[in-house]
Amino acid sequence: MKNITDKLIEEAIVAAKNVAKNAYAPYSKFKVGAALVTANQKIYFGCNFENAAIGETICAERSAVASAIAHEGKSEFPLVVVYTPTSEPTTPCGACRQVLNEFNPEMMVISVCDGNDQLRISLSDLLPRAFGPANLAGE
Ligand code: THU
Repeated sequence: MKNITDKLIEEAIVAAKNVAKNAYAPYSKFKVGAALVTANQKIYFGCNFENAAIGETICAERSAVASAIAHEGKSEFPLVVVYTPTSEPTTPCGACRQVLNEFNPEMMVISVCDGNDQLRISLSDLLPRAFGPANLAGE
């Protein structure tokens, strides 16, 4: 990953775990945190926030995208770290995969959890043959 040092990855892991504490998850009790890294190595945070109208829930990953865009506009976002309160690493939901794909289909996804395992996987492996901006160009 271009410009992504081990130190930055460690910072993003700590950030993803910390921001999960702010999640608003009274229904699922499943507090998720995400740390999205920009091309210029800034980190933006997101956590899930649920709603009494259950379908209106926003995941941590999409919340981090909203924050990053609001602060800096679009970036290629080389890395996202996702923390879930699980014993094994989990991967982003389908909706979040699609939203992340918009900005960088080759984004590195690092999943961390309460256990020692972590998963490092490319978004293109999580969402192969994705529908993206290029599919609309010139149509
Ligand atoms: N959730 C996330 O925030 N990110 C994921 O990758 C998986 C699921 C949230 C949505 C909901 O608030 C709770 O976790 C349970 O699905």
